Amino acid sequence: MRSKNDPNSLISKGQSLASLIQKYYIQYGKSFYRLTLNSKAGFENRDWPGVRKDAIKRLNMYETFLDKIESEIYKLFGQQAKNISIWKNAKKYYRQAISDWYDLELAETFFNSVTRKILMTTGINRKVEFFQLRSRKFKKLDSKIIYRTYNIIESTKDSLPEILSDFEFKSPFEDIKRDSEFIANEIDLYLWPFMGGEINKVIEMINVPFYRNKVAYLVGRILAKGHVIPLVLPLYNSSNGIFVDAVLFRKRQLSIIFGFAHTCFHVPTERHKELIEFLLTILPVNRIDELYFMIGYRKHGKTEFYRDLHHFIHVSKEKFEIAKGLEGSVMIAYTLPNYNYIFKVIKDYSCYLRSENISNKTLSREHVMHCYQCVCNRDRVGRMVDTQEFENLKFRKKRFSSKLLREFKLAARNTVVINEEYVLIKHLYLQRKVTPLPLYLEMEHNPEAIREVIIDYGYFLRDLAAIGIFPADLFNMWNCGVTSRRRVVLFDYDDVESLLNIDFKVKPAPRDYYEELMPDKDRIAAHKNDFFIDEIEIFLGIPKALQGVFNQIHGDLYNVKFWHKMQRKVKRGDIADIIPYNKARRFKRRFDFSHFDISHR
Ligand SMILES: Nc1ncnc2c1ncn2[C@@H]1O[C@H](COP(=O)(O)OP(=O)(O)O)[C@@H](O)[C@H]1O
Ligand SMILES: [Mg+2]
Repeated sequence: MRSKNDPNSLISKGQSLASLIQKYYIQYGKSFYRLTLNSKAGFENRDWPGVRKDAIKRLNMYETFLDKIESEIYKLFGQQAKNISIWKNAKKYYRQAISDWYDLELAETFFNSVTRKILMTTGINRKVEFFQLRSRKFKKLDSKIIYRTYNIIESTKDSLPEILSDFEFKSPFEDIKRDSEFIANEIDLYLWPFMGGEINKVIEMINVPFYRNKVAYLVGRILAKGHVIPLVLPLYNSSNGIFVDAVLFRKRQLSIIFGFAHTCFHVPTERHKELIEFLLTILPVNRIDELYFMIGYRKHGKTEFYRDLHHFIHVSKEKFEIAKGLEGSVMIAYTLPNYNYIFKVIKDYSCYLRSENISNKTLSREHVMHCYQCVCNRDRVGRMVDTQEFENLKFRKKRFSSKLLREFKLAARNTVVINEEYVLIKHLYLQRKVTPLPLYLEMEHNPEAIREVIIDYGYFLRDLAAIGIFPADLFNMWNCGVTSRRRVVLFDYDDVESLLNIDFKVKPAPRDYYEELMPDKDRIAAHKNDFFIDEIEIFLGIPKALQGVFNQIHGDLYNVKFWHKMQRKVKRGDIADIIPYNKARRFKRRFDFSHFDISHR
């Protein structure tokens, strides 16, 4: 038998594999932090294209590191790269090395990602992967390290300049005194019902902003008479300096800003656990996976999700079944009835199984994946549901409804393998469950809620246009859903087109008597990307009885001028300000804010 010191022994190889993964994990962590830290300068210098570039780079960084480490492992270990004994040893050494690391759970996830990439593991191989049934409890946290405390005794207004200045932005505030007053007035008003005239309270602010696009959100909480009230201040940096745009207290508002239809924040801290612990006290979120997603630890979010899913399946005994709504021709969408997520598997070919309809789509699997990838790597502006990809998942067959198994067998043989006992899913997308828009309109009984959603549908179209997106299947309302906060979002990305590729036109009028008699399709030679704005009303999909409510606010969407203006902006590279909170909450500054032309509500 070879000794431990023999470099060719399986033990030594395991050891060097462990150190290699450790080395890459550390490098990855540093690069992630460095990029996150950049957001501050990006905000201060108003370098919006730079901010966008960094965000995309950070989203892709994990995969880039995995690719690098994969090729190095093959270089070092050759054929033995897949030797399970080496991996078992590597796990042992890696576990020892990281046992007292602060970010132990992230380091374990990284190790798992590497093993899964090299070994192409199906299900979970507990011999080589770290697996826990429950999330680790955060132990020995130094909670105060993440926030600053301000005891407010005399006047709210007088404390605010200090709170704002403590963030040490390199660019000046436009008018810190004015904004302090704005904020203080709102806080005092909001607290009036709890506090009456009493001022004494404590404000605790997370000591780093949450950066996303052009906004730096200052996030904290107010402790007043036993109440914990969230406090969020969105800051913008205009050419006149930094200004506070609003004060937000309500969980409903926060759940949109922190919601799953937005890209993750850049929060420049290395104390993610204290951060998560703090966020749990103020956000209406209790899922730890969503908090990891929110701050950019997407892979670890997936680990936490998977753990939760297993737990749910085990406890609930529910079966996977076909999702409510209209069958798609590209995906088989399924869910667990009481679980807040949808799973989607790409069909082998575009088809319908539940109706006689014939699909005329010829999208390849690569094309569909490319579309989903593009959406994930861009700013989703609160309008496109986050999507996670999973590979090689294995569940017991008895956990699937027979209808769903039938669909897998008929239309997803390339992706789903079914044997006596198990269903192996080679690739799936995971999304938060929303209510498909037509179903929502059918089921909702509150007219005000319906009004809100119909109007929001128009803002949804505007927001997408502002970031250069035109769902070619737009106006197919079955691709849109309504969140629990009544926000309209998109979840089907295989028809997403660049706005710039669309030729918005008005139908030419008939030139003579003969043309007047001809049907449009014979008279007008339409090209693939022509979009006749006159037809928008037909395509829009809003039931006739509700169109009036929509048209009152969004009549300009029927005009070709609106779409051409949007195209010009997108072409210029303008980065739109899309305000994810109630417009009425925005402070009326001395300056006009015509530059916020997409703002609403
Ligand atoms: N995130 C989701 N929440 C709720 N239902 C969904 C979601 N994603 C898909 N569905 C349901 O599954 C159907 C098919 O999914 P979709 O993504 O539209 O696929 P396709 O590209 O095949 O049209 C939708 O029409 C809808 O009913
Ligand atoms: Mg669809």
